[in-house]
Amino acid sequence: MSNGAYASAYEQSIGDPNAFWGAAAEAIEWITAPTRALDDSNPPFYRWFPDGTLNTCFNALDRHVRDGRGEQVALYYDSPVTGTKSSLTYAELLDQVSRFAGALASLGVEKGDRVLIYMPMVPEAVVAMLACARLGAVHSVVFGGFAPAELSARIEDAKPKVVVSASCGIEPSRTIAYKPMLDGGLDRSEHKPEALIMLQRPQLEAEVGARDTEWEEMTWDDVMRDAEPAECVEVASTDPLYILYTSGTTGRPKGIVRDNGGHAVALRWSMENIYDIHPGEVWFTASDVGWVVGHSYIVYAPLLTGATTIVYEGKPVGTPDASAFWRIIADYGARAMFTAPTAYRAIKREDPEAKLLAGHDISQLRHVFLAGERLDPDTYHWANDLLHCEVVDNWWQTETGWPIAANLRGLEPMPIKPGSPSVAVPGYDVQILDEYGAPVPAGVDGAIAIKLPLPPGTLPTLWQDDERYVGGYLSVYEGYYLTGDGGMIDEDGYIYVMGRTDDVLNVAGHRLSTGSIEAALAGHPAVAECAVIGVADDFKGQVPRGLVVLKGGYDAATQGAQIAKELVQRVRDEVGAVASLKQVDIVAALPKTRSGKILRKTMREIADGKTPTIPGTIEDASVLDALAGVLRHTD
Ligand code: COA
Ligand code: AMP
Repeated sequence: MSNGAYASAYEQSIGDPNAFWGAAAEAIEWITAPTRALDDSNPPFYRWFPDGTLNTCFNALDRHVRDGRGEQVALYYDSPVTGTKSSLTYAELLDQVSRFAGALASLGVEKGDRVLIYMPMVPEAVVAMLACARLGAVHSVVFGGFAPAELSARIEDAKPKVVVSASCGIEPSRTIAYKPMLDGGLDRSEHKPEALIMLQRPQLEAEVGARDTEWEEMTWDDVMRDAEPAECVEVASTDPLYILYTSGTTGRPKGIVRDNGGHAVALRWSMENIYDIHPGEVWFTASDVGWVVGHSYIVYAPLLTGATTIVYEGKPVGTPDASAFWRIIADYGARAMFTAPTAYRAIKREDPEAKLLAGHDISQLRHVFLAGERLDPDTYHWANDLLHCEVVDNWWQTETGWPIAANLRGLEPMPIKPGSPSVAVPGYDVQILDEYGAPVPAGVDGAIAIKLPLPPGTLPTLWQDDERYVGGYLSVYEGYYLTGDGGMIDEDGYIYVMGRTDDVLNVAGHRLSTGSIEAALAGHPAVAECAVIGVADDFKGQVPRGLVVLKGGYDAATQGAQIAKELVQRVRDEVGAVASLKQVDIVAALPKTRSGKILRKTMREIADGKTPTIPGTIEDASVLDALAGVLRHTD
């Protein structure tokens, strides 16, 4: 039965955002308390808590130590891939963060400067992020699975003063040296940082300072040895906290900007109202600090709440087996966990009856939250039946930083409908629009859009690119933010998200761009033109496939197989193994419209066994007919 808490919170958040978010802002400690929540003086740009000042790191660490949580564990580090476990109390984490902030400051890092962080799942990644927040510097974390091309695109755009990295990342099958990737990324960039700080890991140390570079290179231990702790720097609520690059359809990633004040307020609110996690409780997010889920729910939200977070350097399966999550939940007493549905599909595939649950007492676990890709009803039922706790879908994106749709377990738990992430979260006026921008009736599919203003914590713009922000998100339907997802809302207000309407890929919960994979393919000397499409996959949700037309002079019959192999390797080397491109087909031609647009969606539909939508503007329909066999064939 509804207790009305959701309806009244939702209504107030849309009808009187100043009152709603003004009250939520009281959970944050401000240096100058804001006098109003919403600044709507310059649409379509909206800002939150415009006259407030604060420090995000102070709210994540110092205030908890001051208020008596110094001895509480802030962070457990559990790394089956290195056989290491450790923990840091709030007092210890504060000590490390303030000293690393001092080290950065001594290298000249000041408020507003960018720091690029390229690290695996180690506590030092969290320390580096919070140290930037402490100084008012803007971090930009790059996922460790990305290779030089992705790194250089981010270096070029963010122009970091300092780069912080680690000598290696560890995958179950191999140890990945980060330094050659970084060298590759930096060598291709015109922008050069002033310094590079390298955390040496015993599994594989890097050569630091060996090359003749324009920047200084030093180790983490060196800079920490002499570091003087730095104090928190006061920043405006609207100052940037971080930039997180995400994939669009082109090869150039989008620099999502997160502000300080709105972000702190929204994440703190979400922990109790959506995730039902309270100060002092343990919370486990299995993701990576390189993704938005890691930023929000490994680092900032749990620490802003005074909860305990877990940094897990391992996989759901294979490190060593499919009981890894159950062990962590039981050992640390997690009250809830968060990951992507793929991770549960991996466990289900390996241990379909969840026999490995035996011996792990997870009875204190209240919820499993899943996001990052569509939660298919099979996986939902499997997890829900076996775990004896609620499995809760939630839908959001890097751009929003926290859920757009969820079943708000803290505010008012609602019945769960498998296949739907439930209802619009307070602050988000979600609507389904037709192609002309008119709202459609309940149950009818369309583009999922959010009426402006977006709530606190969501992107105010793209890094130094207001024009691309407006062009990419706000100009299709005036007054609305376009999510890029399609779906519908049912009569009870439950949202169903059916997938991207653009060419953005979602592979194992990892968001990837067709454009950057295509750029890597196109760089091969034999390639005349190419297209990448994302096709449905039972395990990863989607996997990319490449279709390539060879230049004259190359013979597909005799050279095609070798070239396809080189192309797969090329994408691993340039974009990263995480792109998961395994199949490249050499084809005679690609289907296009008369204006030259490649018909990726039509090809995707054929590959997925759906009835394809063939636009009337197709240049040559026989090209598509010739491709059908290739598209339906998987290696
Ligand atoms: N650094 C370097 N390489 C990485 C990497 C990292 N941080 N993360 C993944 N890779 C590599 C993998 O080793 C793999 O390499 P391979 O082709 O040589 O096997 C490749 O990238 C593809 O990785 P992935 O798509 O993750 O597949 P997988 O089979 O290794 O693992 C899962 C599958 C389900 C176990 C894994 O995707 C997972 O844990 N997903 C959880 C979801 C998640 O974290 N989502 C983030 C957003 S919430
Ligand atoms: P990212 O920016 O990496 O978080 O990816 C965001 C995209 O992932 C969204 O636009 C959706 O396409 C997809 N996504 C995330 N969560 C869900 C979900 N719960 N259900 C369906 N799709 C989701």
